[in-house]
Amino acid sequence: MTRADAAQRIAELRERIHHHDYLYYVEARPEVADAEYDRLVRELRDLEAAFPDLVTDDSPTQRVGGTPADLFKPVAHRVAMLSLDNATSADDLREFAARLGRALPAGRFAYVCEPKIDGLGVALCYARGRFVRGATRGDGRVGEDITANLRTIRSVPTVLRGALATVPELEVRGEVFMPRAEFAALNRALEEAGEATFANPRNAAAGAVRQKDPAITARRPLDIFLYHVSLADTLGFATYRDTLAALRAAGLRTNPKAERCDTLEAVIAYCERLERERDGLGYDADGVVIKVDALDLQKRLGSTTHHPRWAIAFKFAARQATTVVRAIDVQVGKTGALTPVAKLEPVELAGVVIRNVSLHNEDEIRKKDVRAGDTVLIERAGDVIPYVVQVIAARRPPGAEPFRFPERCPACGGAATRPEGEAHWRCTNGGCPAQLKERLRHFGSRRAMDIEHLGESAIEQLVDKGLVKDFADLYTLSVDDVAGLERFAEKSAANLVAAIAASRGRGLARLLGALGIRLVGERVGELLAARFGSLGRLAAAAEAELAEAHGIGPEIARSVAAFFANPANRALLDGLERAGVATTAPVAAAAPQVLAGKTFVLTGTLPTLSRDAARALIERHGGRVTASVSRKTDYVVAGEAAGGKADDARRLGVAMLTESELLALVHET
Ligand code: IVH
Repeated sequence: MTRADAAQRIAELRERIHHHDYLYYVEARPEVADAEYDRLVRELRDLEAAFPDLVTDDSPTQRVGGTPADLFKPVAHRVAMLSLDNATSADDLREFAARLGRALPAGRFAYVCEPKIDGLGVALCYARGRFVRGATRGDGRVGEDITANLRTIRSVPTVLRGALATVPELEVRGEVFMPRAEFAALNRALEEAGEATFANPRNAAAGAVRQKDPAITARRPLDIFLYHVSLADTLGFATYRDTLAALRAAGLRTNPKAERCDTLEAVIAYCERLERERDGLGYDADGVVIKVDALDLQKRLGSTTHHPRWAIAFKFAARQATTVVRAIDVQVGKTGALTPVAKLEPVELAGVVIRNVSLHNEDEIRKKDVRAGDTVLIERAGDVIPYVVQVIAARRPPGAEPFRFPERCPACGGAATRPEGEAHWRCTNGGCPAQLKERLRHFGSRRAMDIEHLGESAIEQLVDKGLVKDFADLYTLSVDDVAGLERFAEKSAANLVAAIAASRGRGLARLLGALGIRLVGERVGELLAARFGSLGRLAAAAEAELAEAHGIGPEIARSVAAFFANPANRALLDGLERAGVATTAPVAAAAPQVLAGKTFVLTGTLPTLSRDAARALIERHGGRVTASVSRKTDYVVAGEAAGGKADDARRLGVAMLTESELLALVHET
């Protein structure tokens, strides 16, 4: 490809990627599947690698650059970022409207209401449509430069579209946040990696934005809603609604729940409705922001030094309560991690009685200085797990001692250590019954071996009575063994034994996810099973070979290798095999190498195989999968919405296959 052709194709690809970003983030109606989008990005990346001088800062591939020197340098806001006045009742809102009426007796006020996002206020600057700087709110006058970190957020466009793209200097403001589902997933991953978790999505978002390495921010699932354009009236907008429409037209994401309310009663109804619906929003909102819609009225109302007079925040009822910490217990997790838990005087919070709250780890306890006897403020936001906001220092009883982390496991008395660089103390006793119970609980859980009826009380008793010392022992239990447990009759015992037996056939992927290997959950289990096909082959793989497998990084490789190097684990796996538990991937039997020496490119969405599955299938039969089409490519496997690569294949005369033709090729139809 000539440089000129490459330049043209690069421009085309960037335009298409920006367009799909716009459809996805602003309009929430994507036109292509993720795989197709990824294909565009990959093609762009490949081309840019071949022609490095064509790379520009605003390319969608350049969201993560190096760490620039000006990260966290002070940035003076050209227009101060003010706070908002608060309302906590309908009467407060009526008083707000009355104030507006007194200030401008002739004014006719309509409002726009939108959720008040519980995130971090930021300012984005665009110069002639290019994202040039992003800053935190700071104290409202001076914030910190976080350009490189904000650039990693996919819903922050690097170039604007439409009319706002020509404005010489545009400042827009909004709120960076982490959606709740992403927050929960992040915490699960941190937990699995033995790292400190975040108490709530806001802290997680703040932590991500404050990263010194933008590459880490890029891996945190952040999102943004924009809600303000500085000096909007000078841009010719008449209302806030116009402003929001212009933001959307520019490719900037605004809250779809923003609504115009013509009367104060409509505002109050909006606030009540949103408060009822707050748990279903998918992100944390702590109230409603109400703004006067007409920008000329906003201008005439002006601001105090603290807040604009034309807006107010209606705060939802707090989901906080104070209660007393009776004691601090330490619980043992399935990998031996010791987690301190505050035992509380039961207290009701947003309809749920809270008795325990996790204190996460030693550093967290020390930071908050939580002690037995303390009165603490706890919060429960939506579906987020309750957590301690702070200790009420004034109510600390005399003589309350700082918490000291035990150096022995509270369950088995084994030595506990806190490995260098880790947040958790760990029990080092491999035979610790508390760890075993947690591991069994995980082993039998729905997404692991899915053993129905293997509940808390069964596990407790099976371990305490010495009937189960490892996973394999489960499979040797008789109905009589189980019927001897408390709360088990003949029938329920038979049910449990049958459920255990049924779990023998779950396959290698599930089994790997169930074993509690550090960093190996459902997804990694699938990747390893697809790549190695059997427990025997996986166990025999060297760390380097593991690290080469698709989707497996060096850390996972180290953890898996360490697991199999441990003789106790090998014995456990032998036991499982003897117990008849399937240790192969159902479709991953040693395959004839019919594709040896052949090179494939995958494009578009295949009818049944995921991208990973198709790749695994080809590799298992000796073929190789590469990213871009060249004369050396033997086959392009094309699915729905196959784009440029299919064109390339046609141009270069490379054979094209459908999914079923690929399957026929490897005799797996
Ligand atoms: S409007 C001059 N709208 O709440 C306009 N603020 O307590 C002021 N916030 O500093 C902001 N969601 O960081 C506005 N939909 C929203 C908001 C919002 C969250 C934050 C913002 C502000 C703080 C004030």
